[in-house]
Amino acid sequence: MRTTVLFSLIIVLLSFGACQQPQQDIEHSTDTKIDSLISLMTIEEKVGQLTLYTSDMDQTGAYIRKEYENDIKQGKVGAIFNAYGVDYTRRLQEMAVNNTRLRIPLLFGYDVIHGHRTIFPVPLAEAASWNIEAIQHAARIAAIEASAEGLHWTFAPMCDISRDPRWGRVVEGAGEDPFLASLIAEARVKGFQGDDLSDPTTLAACVKHFAAYGAPQAGRDYHAVDMSENMLREVYLPPYKAAVDAGAVTAMTAFNDLNGIPSTSNKFLLTDLLRDEWGFEGFVVTDYTSVMELLYHGVAADTAHAAALALEAGVDMDMQSGFFHQTLPKLVEDKIVDESLIDQAVRRILKVKFQLGLFDDPYKYCSTTREKNEIMQADQLEAARDMGRRSIVLLRNEAQTLPIPQHIKKIAVIGPMGNNKRDMIGSWSAAGDWSKAVDLVEGLKARYPLSEIVFVKGCEIDGEQTEGFNEARRAAADADFVILALGEAYWMSGEAASRSQIDLPGVQQQLAELIIGTGKPVATVIISGRPLTVNWLAQNSPALVQAWFLGTQSGHALADVLSGDYNPSGKLPLTFPRNVGQIPIYYSMKNTGRPFNENSKYTSKYLDVPNTPLFVFGHGLSYTQFEYSHLALEQETYTLDDSIRFEVELANTGSFAGEEIVQVYVHDQLASVTRPVRELKAFKRVWLEAGDSKKVNFSLHPESLGFYKIDGSYGTEPGRFTIFVGGDSNAGLSTEFELR
Ligand code: BGC
Repeated sequence: MRTTVLFSLIIVLLSFGACQQPQQDIEHSTDTKIDSLISLMTIEEKVGQLTLYTSDMDQTGAYIRKEYENDIKQGKVGAIFNAYGVDYTRRLQEMAVNNTRLRIPLLFGYDVIHGHRTIFPVPLAEAASWNIEAIQHAARIAAIEASAEGLHWTFAPMCDISRDPRWGRVVEGAGEDPFLASLIAEARVKGFQGDDLSDPTTLAACVKHFAAYGAPQAGRDYHAVDMSENMLREVYLPPYKAAVDAGAVTAMTAFNDLNGIPSTSNKFLLTDLLRDEWGFEGFVVTDYTSVMELLYHGVAADTAHAAALALEAGVDMDMQSGFFHQTLPKLVEDKIVDESLIDQAVRRILKVKFQLGLFDDPYKYCSTTREKNEIMQADQLEAARDMGRRSIVLLRNEAQTLPIPQHIKKIAVIGPMGNNKRDMIGSWSAAGDWSKAVDLVEGLKARYPLSEIVFVKGCEIDGEQTEGFNEARRAAADADFVILALGEAYWMSGEAASRSQIDLPGVQQQLAELIIGTGKPVATVIISGRPLTVNWLAQNSPALVQAWFLGTQSGHALADVLSGDYNPSGKLPLTFPRNVGQIPIYYSMKNTGRPFNENSKYTSKYLDVPNTPLFVFGHGLSYTQFEYSHLALEQETYTLDDSIRFEVELANTGSFAGEEIVQVYVHDQLASVTRPVRELKAFKRVWLEAGDSKKVNFSLHPESLGFYKIDGSYGTEPGRFTIFVGGDSNAGLSTEFELR
């Protein structure tokens, strides 16, 4: 009898949504329902909601809890990750809904980072497009596919700024610049979450890894991060904040410690900043086994201490360590942890489940029709191809080596990336099937059906074997055009993939020297998840293309650019160093008290390498030429309330139509604290036919020139500023204004 009454009560509590209610009322009634539900829960059931375990379908860390299915049936786990597919997620959902007393649905999460089945370019590549709309669209498609396979929640976007290409996870971020990365973070959240989380084509987003995971010492993954609060707030935090402001409903802690406090037990980060200062209302999940790692960080004495530290700092859900599960009920019983903290975390988690519509229908995301019809469709593949060609960066193009001349008879593709499918989809490729990727040779064959395309591997990605060199040289000598396809394997970047040298692995450069030595027209295509120190190629390869990992449609996207069907428009989101000794290297550096002077020894420089990078942030060539002129401000003096309006003339003086990314950098000439030599403050993508020109207008608000001043407060200081406008962060055209 009691069970029946309880069950009817739950049904009444949970069944809402049928009638039309204003948003405020809905929120109020959701909160009331959640509170009523919490009042019915035992401490074990509550802690179950705070627990996230992986299924055994996929694994991104060391530990798998074998009993997770029993845990589901007993209500000991409220969320599962690494489980997808309608049948599978339905089966697990049934275990929760049919076996547990309160029938609370499970939440299914997964790393849908750059596509789910249709794999888009890796995030760093997408950032090189500087195309915010296309990035949002890519995230939208990822959400459609993932939600069609039973998923509710993605562990993305990764918002970690990084200025250290040794760190393998640069591949997952949006590069070095807070302005560009913030726009991208916002776009990704909007793409994943859409306008309404209860729409079954949307996914809950997760802002990660909070915070500053991208600045590990010496570029070694998981290493300590130590930085000033100014650096943290001005450079590293803005993309997370942008994702929170865009409405991300979950956030993930980082593995690293920040200034001595692990992110997962960092109250300043998780409560003072994220919730109290930024107003984040969603729930915080840890990264994989991060609660357990508090033991290794040396801040927790035992399992219970680790769980208490994390919960009290502001963690709501424990990913995979099981420490919450094992210790929180007893900690509450012993009055060491206040149950209200647990209730608060449960409330936040249940709210997201409500927002997703799971209480209306736990199988809302289990549609076999959607699974059949909404995955790898022609328009989705086309979007991935378009994103791919927009992500490619033309680094060098001597004597217009590219595009490949019209009516070419014989193209030789040489190198280990030529017919390589596995590596094309990069790391974190979700449920992507690499065997469905289009490789470079296939892409070229489709584009040039009448030409002969010869492929010779020449060597492996890594290793010392040079047996294939002779055949490669012969193929090059025999061809009209050569494409060298070189790079890193997909696993050489990503998590736990830091490198202390970032040269081309193995004997690939020797192969390049041999092939380029033939004197044939050669375009080298670099496939990698990070900047590589390709100094020799930058000087000797007639053309050099940074192609990252472009995903399922790699070969087609590359053929579009190499053939000239698409005029490359990508720009580097990360500085390319000459050698690892220059790292961290980024364009928005400080001037120092002894700025570089080549004639003066005691200035800031190296004895053995220039200060300048191999390729600057924002660099990227086109098959046409763009010229900038007539940079003009509307006024020379502004107040803090004015908009600073200016225009520049952009002319396409070459013979191809194309898109240029017009970049605006600002320098604050005199301030109470030292300011970067340049900071990106605006950009526009401008399309111009050959021979055309156009005036491009900008408007900056003085607020965007703010920073943390000497007294610790944030604001814009009056004074003189320089504006630089151009096609990369070395932009030469400049003008000045005064802010009063
Ligand atoms: C990674 C996260 C990821 C999580 C779940 C961790 O190892 O750092 O980025 O979301 O695994 O797969």
